[in-house]
Amino acid sequence: MLFRVSDVEMTEKIDNSKINAAVRVAKEFIYDDFTVGIGTGSTVKYFIQALSELVDKDELNILCIPSSLESQIELAKVGLPTGSLIEEPELDIYVDGADIITKDFVLIKGVGGALTMEKIMARASQEFIVIADYSKFLLELNSFPVPIEVLPQTINTIIRPIFDLGGEFKLRYGAGKVGPVISDNGNVIGDVHFKDIYDPCVIEKKLTLIPGVVENGIFPDDADRIVIGHPTSSDVVFTRS
Ligand code: A5P
Repeated sequence: MLFRVSDVEMTEKIDNSKINAAVRVAKEFIYDDFTVGIGTGSTVKYFIQALSELVDKDELNILCIPSSLESQIELAKVGLPTGSLIEEPELDIYVDGADIITKDFVLIKGVGGALTMEKIMARASQEFIVIADYSKFLLELNSFPVPIEVLPQTINTIIRPIFDLGGEFKLRYGAGKVGPVISDNGNVIGDVHFKDIYDPCVIEKKLTLIPGVVENGIFPDDADRIVIGHPTSSDVVFTRS
């Protein structure tokens, strides 16, 4: 595949922005003896790297609880100690990326397919910090579909109730396998497209009331702090008072 110089430059800018948000949170907001919930995604990979550097320099002693198999593998690669929510149901802090962040600090998450554990962990944590590059911030709610996890037997029964809420359900297909994307929990991942702006608090609740829908990727009022990375800096754009 041919990449134009501008594509390469843009990827570098976005990656540096992710790194700046991730490193700042690792250095500024993670304390000794913390139980740290670890989200999923490319920004979180940089966060794991930053944590492992601090632990290697003996500047930090932590226990990490991954939200996905992917993050568990990444934590194992760098040798950070891990546990599970069964032993550690209360987290000191949960750090994760987001797919979009609106001006009202509503998050849409779940492109990585780990939204169910991500929501459980965000809500089991004393503090939820979001790390994201600048391209994710200040987007309209309906500019991005809502990822949902559903029981495999319900992929057709959920279509009508979702339609009645103003959404269109599409199964998600990915590379490396024939058929729909399957979550770490053995369920199916899909995306709900909304043409019109909707109330995130109402739709978040109504979606999960549909039998067969396990969870959805709307996080209406969950973030306690949001750190946005730029190519050479980072900003804390939201702190819950
Ligand atoms: C994973 O399921 C998602 O919720 C991620 O948090 C989200 O996709 C952000 O990923 P990136 O850091 O790769 O943009």
